[in-house]
Amino acid sequence: MDVTADRDFDDWADILAFHWEAGVDVAIGEVPVDRFAESAAEPSRPRAPAAPARDATAGQAGMAPRSPAPSRNQPAYSSAPATPTLVTQPPDEAVMGAREAARAATSLDELKAILDGFEGCALKRTASRLVFADGNPAAKVMFVGEAPGRDEDQQGLPFVGRSGKLLDLMLAAIGLDRTSAYIANVIPWRPPGNRTPTPQETSVCLPFIARQIELADPDILVCLGGPSAQALLGTTEGITKLRGRFMDYDTGTRTIRAIATFHPAYLLRTPLGKRFAWRDMLAVEALLAGKGGA
Ligand code: URA
Repeated sequence: MDVTADRDFDDWADILAFHWEAGVDVAIGEVPVDRFAESAAEPSRPRAPAAPARDATAGQAGMAPRSPAPSRNQPAYSSAPATPTLVTQPPDEAVMGAREAARAATSLDELKAILDGFEGCALKRTASRLVFADGNPAAKVMFVGEAPGRDEDQQGLPFVGRSGKLLDLMLAAIGLDRTSAYIANVIPWRPPGNRTPTPQETSVCLPFIARQIELADPDILVCLGGPSAQALLGTTEGITKLRGRFMDYDTGTRTIRAIATFHPAYLLRTPLGKRFAWRDMLAVEALLAGKGGA
């Protein structure tokens, strides 16, 4: 039966409104994909023995304990173009695969390519593209948000929507712009409908952003919002308590200063928070100028 027959303009407008209200706000393909048929067709993968390895991200928030690693013959990532079918992995294996994949990168370009071929995070399925970074990777200060939204997903760049415009103003307030700051997210794929990433999704993405910070090697890390601060600083403290204090962040090769501040999206909803974010930005400015940071 053709369910599209005999529908008029109002029917289509209602269907579109239903999708919008359900959180479907972007079309990511021309033809529908039957994910149930895809996963039914996936062969089950045997578990491989554990592989000993140095682990720069172990012990951070949300990281799972060591568990069997993916087989060497079946990496969780590939530099070949992504196939339409994502590997369905047990959660621990996906995290181990992510750690192994992130460690393999020796430059930011390599990390981006590895992440683009990584098949261990289901968010990749629903996002239109990878949102890796923007700004200057050689900058002294790196800002890390939570996850891309719709505009970022469409453009492939972090913080280009409304909160990005506010972030640009926050940068400008202390004499920075995208040539003097490096910007990324903990999660590099847009969660569908901007939902909160699951702890599992954050755990899988954490080794990549940790490696990205290590390779960019900034002097100062600024976590934008509670989820970013909690994931990167390994704490469950809320942003209101966390913000405004400099802390140590171990990149794996050295210890740098890190500070958390309110997320620009929160500041758009809560303008009263801007006075605190302003103080945090001034603290970053002072540290960049070689003053403060204690
Ligand atoms: N919010 C984020 O945390 N990151 C973006 O890139 C955009 C909005």
